[in-house]
Amino acid sequence: MPENVLVVGGGGREHAIVRALAPDCTVFGLASNRNPGIAALAADTTTAEETDTEAIVEYAAAIDADAAVVGPESALQAGVADALTDAGVFTFGPTAEAARIETDKAFQRRFMAENDIPGTPGFETFDSAEAAAEYVETIEEDVAVKPTGLTGGKGVRVTGDQLTHEEAADYIRGDDHDEWVVEERLVGEEFTVQAFVAKGERSSPSSRTQSGDDGVVRPTPAVQDHKRAYEGDEGPNTGGMGSYTDAGTTLPFMDEADYDDAVEILEATVDALPTYTGVLYGQFMLTAEGPKVVEFNARFGDPEAMNVLPLLETPFSDIVDAAASGEPLPNPTFRNQATVCKYAVPDGYPTDPSAGAKITVDESTVEAGAETHGGEALLFYASVDDRDDGLYTTTSRAFAVVGIADDIETAEAIAADALAAAGDGLRVREDVGTAELVQKRVDHMARLR
Ligand code: AMP
Ligand code: GLY
Repeated sequence: MPENVLVVGGGGREHAIVRALAPDCTVFGLASNRNPGIAALAADTTTAEETDTEAIVEYAAAIDADAAVVGPESALQAGVADALTDAGVFTFGPTAEAARIETDKAFQRRFMAENDIPGTPGFETFDSAEAAAEYVETIEEDVAVKPTGLTGGKGVRVTGDQLTHEEAADYIRGDDHDEWVVEERLVGEEFTVQAFVAKGERSSPSSRTQSGDDGVVRPTPAVQDHKRAYEGDEGPNTGGMGSYTDAGTTLPFMDEADYDDAVEILEATVDALPTYTGVLYGQFMLTAEGPKVVEFNARFGDPEAMNVLPLLETPFSDIVDAAASGEPLPNPTFRNQATVCKYAVPDGYPTDPSAGAKITVDESTVEAGAETHGGEALLFYASVDDRDDGLYTTTSRAFAVVGIADDIETAEAIAADALAAAGDGLRVREDVGTAELVQKRVDHMARLR
């Protein structure tokens, strides 16, 4: 069992990771911001850039860390897992090379095609913006255009949905990226499946026929995120405004076979990767033909970690421990309940956010409200400014409330109640997890199939 665990990152996702580890380990936090939720649970925290491998290795040595969990993709891309591993600290998070499955979208698509991963959409890759723009101008089909590198989920544009082919070509020319992926526009309902993965030199190789039994890939319940800024899926893409899970592993608009197909895609992907340790996050589009891959991430989702980790009954430290020792991962169990996570963001987020609004909820007010619904509520901090007289917003997502109850509707009511008192100058997507929006998803899928 790891004793001293370093968690890299300071958002809502990392608050959820720290909360999942805290009952069983001594947790330490390192992030560029000070997250009061993490500070309250950790033995110590320090401030450093999540990409500063030297500072991270130094802090890991100072706290005598025997394991680390890396939250953000920027840290993985910077080689934080490589540096910690080299320094003798087991790291639950992939190497920079393995993380290219997220950090290089052109590599990701080529890798999928070369390995015949099911659910790969049609795509073309380009080394010059002009070539990508010209291609988009010449084709008729709707496409998604993506710079190949990390953009915090904000770099993708989809024709037929957000813009015309001409506008997409202008967007590519006006942007400062050279490398682009242009791919088939997928139509359907999006969902996420995150899996714990430990495929190291010491783990037995997984294979498609025995997958699931070898303890290499352990999936968690499906989640639906809401990336658009405003109600009704309007407005620009954000890092994620809120997300929900249903009791069990599926979502109301999908069935068991869809979930199993998504898990198979994750397994086939891990199968094709030489080694991989950490979380593999599949973003899927449930199309009329079944799940297709929108993208992979090499880490937990934010907000999706806040839905899934509170339901995890198996200690997260047992999973990290098994990965560290090359044992098969334990088959995790989850509470059979629904969750609704809603982010409170500063007014104007993401295009023109105004910081400095006072946050007027805390853990105890959030928890007390949930009791009247017979459920539970959790508060996770993301980016807040901790002043002498209280917490204030920055220009990023401020905090999230997760309602947990037997059904989505009750979990939504819990989150909504808690956020009603969030404070002026904060905005929430009221529709996330409401019966009306969930029904819209179900109807949409029924129309497509
Ligand atoms: P990504 O940064 O790849 O997660 O993309 C952000 C968002 O753009 C996704 O969550 C989708 O809503 C949308 N998107 C990305 N790729 C596609 C695609 N091929 N077809 C339709 N929508 C897409
Ligand atoms: N919620 C989407 C992400 O974490 O990338």
